[in-house]
Amino acid sequence: MTTPLARPKAEWTQSASEFWAPNRKPVEAAFAMQPAVYADEEFFAAEQERLFGRAWVGVALACEVARPGRLLVRSVGGRSVLLTRTETGLHGFLNSCRHRGTELAEADCDIANTIRCPYHRWHYSADGHLVSAPMFDTVPRDGFDLADYGLIRVRVDTWGPLVFACLDNDSPPLSAWLGDLGDRMAAYDFEKWRPAQLDGATCTFDVATNWKLIVENFAEYYHLPWVHPELAKVSRVADHYRYQGPGMYCGQTTTPVSGDERDDWLKLPAATGLHNSDAASGRFVALFPNVLLAVLPSHMFLMTLQPLGAGRTLEHCTFLFPPGPMTGPEPPAALRESFEITRRFWIEVNDEDIDICERAQRGISLGGAPPGPLAPRFEEPLNRFHKMTADLMTLPCVADLTVPAGDRPGNADHYGSEPNPLPPATELDATASSVQTSSS
Ligand code: FES
Ligand SMILES: [Fe+2]
Repeated sequence: MTTPLARPKAEWTQSASEFWAPNRKPVEAAFAMQPAVYADEEFFAAEQERLFGRAWVGVALACEVARPGRLLVRSVGGRSVLLTRTETGLHGFLNSCRHRGTELAEADCDIANTIRCPYHRWHYSADGHLVSAPMFDTVPRDGFDLADYGLIRVRVDTWGPLVFACLDNDSPPLSAWLGDLGDRMAAYDFEKWRPAQLDGATCTFDVATNWKLIVENFAEYYHLPWVHPELAKVSRVADHYRYQGPGMYCGQTTTPVSGDERDDWLKLPAATGLHNSDAASGRFVALFPNVLLAVLPSHMFLMTLQPLGAGRTLEHCTFLFPPGPMTGPEPPAALRESFEITRRFWIEVNDEDIDICERAQRGISLGGAPPGPLAPRFEEPLNRFHKMTADLMTLPCVADLTVPAGDRPGNADHYGSEPNPLPPATELDATASSVQTSSS
């Protein structure tokens, strides 16, 4: 028997290959991705290079590197990357000395605005210039100029509460990558949201599954009634719609979030300045490839995925809050109590998701059934995600990337009729975007 895992590996990077053909179709005819995409370590290595090596990858909270003197160490596409801030802005560099390549920093630290290599003590300014190379000129070397040996720069940018890094200079800028998302979510004013200084406001889960299964699970609500019976009381299946404009993201919204049977999500004070739809909704947005935003009017549950192997992912979770008492040094006791209820609810839901994603990984890697059909009613965001994955894996040059278009009123038939009514008009009024778009 030929298993799907045994398909020729050369097809992974060929745009017109049979490997991706079932994912390139419209959702009504599309299938899940091949098992190798989730379970094969060679695919994982290729994906690190072609997908994570060319995408805008979420790597940190902006507030973690908000002040000069702080240095963060992060992983992007298998490379170690340094993040710093100076008076001139945010900087990213490869974590490798320009002398003989030594790792400059092992972990986040304070640097007094100087990055020193521990090996022969070359030292760099926080904006990446080589400042000195000790004793190098005791025997002069023709043409040696410190200015030629600054740290290798990595593109970095911010959106909302996050820092993103991109290893490929040909990738579109972050603003084009995210498309209309900034305008769509502008009223939240995410730049001002911060983590609370409370126990449990950040946590990391080591999950035995491929990162893409976590994204896919986040992007569909088909599983809601069976995997999350309690969540389905506040985020009812009937109140879900897609939330997708042009941009490298897949989104859905619960409008309105219900407080009828449980109100775990509605206990904390809402952000000010939200329009009616934002003030009533839960927004669930998967930024391609590795950032998952679950936004309620009063808080955000943010997940950043760090793939460690085909079947292993670190899930870094942070609760963020709009400016107000939750972001102060000492939130009042009543709010701390409300946060604990909210936090427990999220962790229970997340545990349910982790269990089912690990089970999906086991079935795919140990069983390896061929990919099945997607449910057109619920799984269009997965089809969109699969197309983005196929594009990044196969494009010879990422400058040719086509940022996907969003949902339009004209494809309302994709939403089905019952139990999900058509989305509110405000959600379909997609903001015009200047990015290149397709009709996929
Ligand atoms: S390797 Fe960094 S100073 Fe020599
Ligand atoms: Fe879920």
